[in-house]
Amino acid sequence: TPSAVASGVGYQVKKIHIGAYEINSWYISPFPDEYSRHPLLYICEFCLKYMKSEYTYRRHCLKCVQRHPPGDEIYRDGNISVFEVDGRKNKIYCQNLCLIGKMFLDTKTLYYDVEPFLFYILCEYDEEGYHFAGYYSKEKRSVQGYNLSCIMILPSKQREGYGKLLIEFSYLLSKKEGVPGSPEKPLSDFGLLSYLSYWRRAIYEILLAVSSKDSSSISIEAISKKTGMTVDDITSTLQTDGMLQRQSGLSNYVIVVDSKRTEDYMRRANEKNPRRIDPSKLRWTPFL
Ligand code: ACO
Ligand code: ZN
Repeated sequence: TPSAVASGVGYQVKKIHIGAYEINSWYISPFPDEYSRHPLLYICEFCLKYMKSEYTYRRHCLKCVQRHPPGDEIYRDGNISVFEVDGRKNKIYCQNLCLIGKMFLDTKTLYYDVEPFLFYILCEYDEEGYHFAGYYSKEKRSVQGYNLSCIMILPSKQREGYGKLLIEFSYLLSKKEGVPGSPEKPLSDFGLLSYLSYWRRAIYEILLAVSSKDSSSISIEAISKKTGMTVDDITSTLQTDGMLQRQSGLSNYVIVVDSKRTEDYMRRANEKNPRRIDPSKLRWTPFL
């Protein structure tokens, strides 16, 4: 866990109580002053309201009728759901979300100017309701072609494949939009690890599917169409894995696939991380 929490500068929230968990903050998040004086904040896992005292929180939990994020449930598979929340329509919820996100994000992120963004909330469903597990934000219109701005999975839910699941989800939306996308830079260390792992799996899957027929014929552009990834991200992933080779006498590169190695990788990856997005379960049309 990064322990880069800055020291000595005024007050800061050190811990949150959310749902069934108490979670230590990794970075400083700009909660309003009067809240920052309380090292432990209580957060309603359904409406994301933050509170200073356990007493207020307990009372809130008795009164709060919300059992899922505001906005539309656009994906459900088993006990996993994704809600799409518009920063303009649900400003307070999205601001609270960003303040929680900032506790685990090192880079400068937005907190209050949420209107130009859509938020995709990952929840675990049980008879009590839709429990918040993580989210990512996305600009409604990204000039740079970003399909994801910030992603955060609650530390209590990390290392279970949810990060890659949301990344896969972000590319599914890009494919529906018909425009390849890429995450906003810079990536954090864990962000980069998650993306590299996702990119590799997405590309290998396509390569294995075609390699039984004709592996040398697939172009990077074709992989981009099938994955929603940008040509740059595909090229850099293939380069990292030494899978691009210059053809003698020609200026262009070909993709060289070692099927055995690629198959072994995919088998291990699927065993380790079986969570996948099922595209048929998406109920969504692109933002207009
Ligand atoms: N140590 C080592 N490897 C890790 C760690 C870790 N702590 N966390 C994730 N990874 C690797 C995993 O090994 C996995 O790869 P693998 O399946 O090939 O082994 C991969 O990253 C993804 O693992 P997931 O379980 O799918 O990811 P997780 O649910 O833990 O979420 C995330 C990843 C979202 C980056 C999470 O660590 C997080 O919220 N971090 C804090 C916020 C952050 O850094 N967000 C990214 C900023 S960049 C951006 O937003 C564009
Ligand atoms: Zn509430």
